[in-house]
Formats: sequence, C-alpha cells, structure tokens
Amino acid sequence: MAPASSSSTVPQPGRSGTSIRRGTEIREAFLTFYAERGHARLPSASLVPEDPTVLLTIAGMVPFKPVFLGQAERPAARATSSQKCIRTNDIENVGRTTRHHTFFEMLGNFSFGDYFKEQAIVWAWQLSTQVFALDPDHLVVSVFREDDESFRIWRDVVGVAPRRIVRLGEDDNFWASGPTGPCGPCSELYYDFRPGDGDEPLNLEDEDRFIEFYNLVFMQYNRDAKGTLTPLANRNIDTGMGLERMARILQKVPNNYETDLLLPLIEAAAALAGVDYRHQDESVRTSLKVIADHSRAITHLIADGVTASNLGRGYILRRLLRRVIRHGRQIGIEDPFLPVMGDAAIHLMAEAYPILRDRQEEIRSELVREEARFLETLERGEKLLAQILAAEPACISGEQAFELYDTYGFPLELTEEIAEEHGV
Ligand code: ALA
Repeated sequence: MAPASSSSTVPQPGRSGTSIRRGTEIREAFLTFYAERGHARLPSASLVPEDPTVLLTIAGMVPFKPVFLGQAERPAARATSSQKCIRTNDIENVGRTTRHHTFFEMLGNFSFGDYFKEQAIVWAWQLSTQVFALDPDHLVVSVFREDDESFRIWRDVVGVAPRRIVRLGEDDNFWASGPTGPCGPCSELYYDFRPGDGDEPLNLEDEDRFIEFYNLVFMQYNRDAKGTLTPLANRNIDTGMGLERMARILQKVPNNYETDLLLPLIEAAAALAGVDYRHQDESVRTSLKVIADHSRAITHLIADGVTASNLGRGYILRRLLRRVIRHGRQIGIEDPFLPVMGDAAIHLMAEAYPILRDRQEEIRSELVREEARFLETLERGEKLLAQILAAEPACISGEQAFELYDTYGFPLELTEEIAEEHGV
C-alpha cells in the first residue's frame, strides 16, 4: 500500500471508545489490522531461536534476523506475528515494577524491504487511535534525536503537536537486538496517564505517568563487532507492541499483572497460599507476581523443549523454577505446587499457544522432577546457611558461599537473598 499522502493529515478518530479489552481480543485486533493491510500472518516462533548465537527469543524480530541481513529469503514482503519472548536481564525488577516481565508477548508488524517510515508511523497511529481507540490527547511519541524525517511525519502527516514529540538519544531511540547485527533508529508511542499535568517538561522516564507501548524500529543498518554501521541492502520495519502493556491500558488496571493475561495465575498462587492478593502487603504481592510471571515463562520454555540444567537455557529455566519455589515458600506454600501452576498457565494460554496442551505431560513431569530435586537441595543448603549465619557477628565469606554452591548446589542468588534477609 502506498504511504499516506504527506499533504493531508491522518483523520482523527472519534472518541467512541473501544470494546476491545481482553488480551485475546487485543492480539486478534492487532494481527487482523495488519493482515488486512497485506501482511502474512505468521505463527509465533519457538523461544529457542534457530540462530545458534542467540540464547532465547527476546523480540518479535529474532526469527527474521537472517532476513534483515539478506542471508535468508523473506517469508513475505510484509508479515505480522504475536511472538512469545523471554528476557531475563531485568529479572530483579519482575514483580516489583508495574511492567517488567520475563515472559511476554510482542505483537509485531514487519516490512522486509517493502514499506518504510511513513507508512509504519501512520498505521501505528491509526491502530492505536482507531482500533484501540486511545484518546490522542493521551499519546506522546519519541523519535531518535537526529531523525528529522520521523519528527516531520509525526507533526505534518499525523498531526501530533510538536511539544508531544520528544527527541531522545541512542539509549532510548536506537534499537538493536544485540551488540552486533541489524539495528536502526526507532520511534516509540507512549500512553500518558495524566495529560492534565501539562507538556513542559515531558519526562518520559516518569513511569507513573507514561508507559511506552509500541516501538517502531527503522531497521536499516548492520552493526559489526567494531561498532561500525553499514547500511543494509533493504530498508526494513520491525515493530513491537507489548501485549501486556496494551492490556493494562485498555483494562484500566494499575499494573500489567492485574490484566486478564496474568491475574488468573496470581489468583491460583494466592489460593495455594490461602491468601487474598488484594489484601496483602507489597512483599506478598510481589511474590505472587513473580510466581505468576515465572509460571508463564517456565511452561513455555519446557513446551519449546528446554530442560533444566546448569548451562545456558537450561540454567535460565532452572533459575526461574527455583525462584517460583522460593517465593512460594515465602508466602507459606509448603507443599510441591509447580505442577499446579503449570496446569494453570496451560489452561490460561493454550488457546493462543496449542503447543502447551500438546506438551502438557512433558511440562508436568519436568516440573515434578525439578521441584523434588530443588526441595532436597534447599533443605540441605538452608540448614548449612542457618548455621553459618548464626555466628556472632553474622557474616558469610565468599568461600562459604562458593562451597554452598559448588558442593551443595545451593544457588548463589539464594544465599545472597537469605543473607540479606538476615541483614548480612
Ligand atoms: N525489536 C523491537 C523491540 O523489541 C521492536 O522493541
């Protein structure tokens, strides 16, 4: 489709609101919007990428990396997908902030040498304001500092007021999936929960006020190991809309965890602990959120063929599993419960990801096996650690922490957490 004419502004939507609220409806509306605009609707790829240099699928573009680099045939000129993703770089923030997750779903539209900036921006705006019916007064956009073209498109084609277009540097508005590989400047759409607070200055880092929900990457360079940027043969589009974030906005809840994509898992864990999520202090709520988040991640990882081990993906899975058990114990779940959480996650997500149902037995047996193994390790390690921390003054040496890990398999992060709980 030809880009929107730059002489006219994009029609503004009515403010009738949208009936789209549930996670499944948001996913479907996104994919349908782009399918109607000539995009091939592709299924989510595995969390285990084909690219052997990449540990996990961290974005919708990962399966298309070779296409962007010109090393593989494009599957179509345009594509759209809802990609399951896992990121563990911010694992400490999971459950503590309103928006961090390990597992999340990224809705994306991609152009492989087909449409570029103007069309991507115009469609992103139309989708946000017409399909999801977000009030334009609640939207703010950012562009890469030097990207005058995007600034002009937002201002002159879409009609966004210049004071609501923020120029940001490389850290925020230049996207790459890793230190090397395809990359490019990007432009992001933010939802403003408090437009009444005014526009000056607009601090997009104020996470209580703004949430970034849609990233449009203008994939046009390859970065090599020395950091040199070389233009790609094609100019491409790679985008990502966080499904959980859009759900949070449309469901008008205070954080992603209280959307229908995660709340049922919080409730499942709360039922096991015999508590009511709404009436708990922050630390119990955080544990419930961590359990909900990680239950989705571990279920999908096992479904995609990962088994717990001490290396690579296997270690990520093991670490997530063990964190679920630890947080479960913290809120009073004493008996093995991972298979119950696994079943709840499968029940919640199998409609969108049927592989979960197909692999239900494997998921269950891996959860049973790992939980039993960890409970043994925990019991032994906790006893030893309690003896160490009982000394006056309480203190633990690097050597002792290493021995707990090396000889007894007791995870270092648990030693750190428990020591911290003892004020050490
Ligand atoms: N690949 C881009 C991101 O992950 C869209 O934000």
